[in-house]
Amino acid sequence: MFGLFKKNKTLPTFAPLKTDMHCHLLPLVDDGSKSLEESLESMVAMKEVGFDEIKLTPHFQYPRFPNVESDILERYKNFLEEIERNRGDRDLPKINGISGEYRIDDGFGEHIKRDEILTFRFSDPSKGSKKGFLLMELSLHQPVMGFEEVMFERQMEGYDVILAHPERYPYFDSHSSRLEQMKEQGVYFQSNILSLDGFYGEEARKKAFDFIENGWIEFLGTDMHNTMYAQALRHASTNRKIIQLIEKEEFQNKYLVEDK
Ligand SMILES: [Fe+2]
Repeated sequence: MFGLFKKNKTLPTFAPLKTDMHCHLLPLVDDGSKSLEESLESMVAMKEVGFDEIKLTPHFQYPRFPNVESDILERYKNFLEEIERNRGDRDLPKINGISGEYRIDDGFGEHIKRDEILTFRFSDPSKGSKKGFLLMELSLHQPVMGFEEVMFERQMEGYDVILAHPERYPYFDSHSSRLEQMKEQGVYFQSNILSLDGFYGEEARKKAFDFIENGWIEFLGTDMHNTMYAQALRHASTNRKIIQLIEKEEFQNKYLVEDK
């Protein structure tokens, strides 16, 4: 009975990561935050669990979220101003840049043609590729034909490709040879922190730990969408297995910087 009223304390578990590089807190451009207030509340949680900086990565997904980079950059500028006007005394992480989560779909070629892809970078200019990191995702239902080639072409153009949340694709298992092949091809992987806490189910949870064990995961992200995710992130910050993992493993998040 008392357990019903017991509130888990939030912990700064993710402070060693420093930067979150995957979240959907630019309001009203995708299935993420629906308002400035929702973004602010979600950011408070991100600061509580230890993030000093965050990078926004709105969906670029055709035809569901047909975002265009120039419009997103304009909204981003306004969003930063709105935050300063409305933050009050809230303790927030610094927003240090905007890129995107690009889905490999029928609309992706348009972004390449326009050559306006939004990326992020390592703080050390000698590290990473000349065009920066490109965060890419696949369909959550079935593998898109030829996605490896699409990624390889981007690498040849000078991008560092990151595959978002490989554990969330049901068609890859813990020792997937296709994923192994992608690692050999030099693709970076980013797992979701909430996967590690079972937010997307047991299968995704197990795969996220297995992939880290395989040495495949360079980045962790919140994939924060709204205040429901914020509560889930607070919960994840108290998960003992996650706390131990963050203490033991080194991830690349802390080396990222704003891409100008
Ligand atoms: Fe995402």
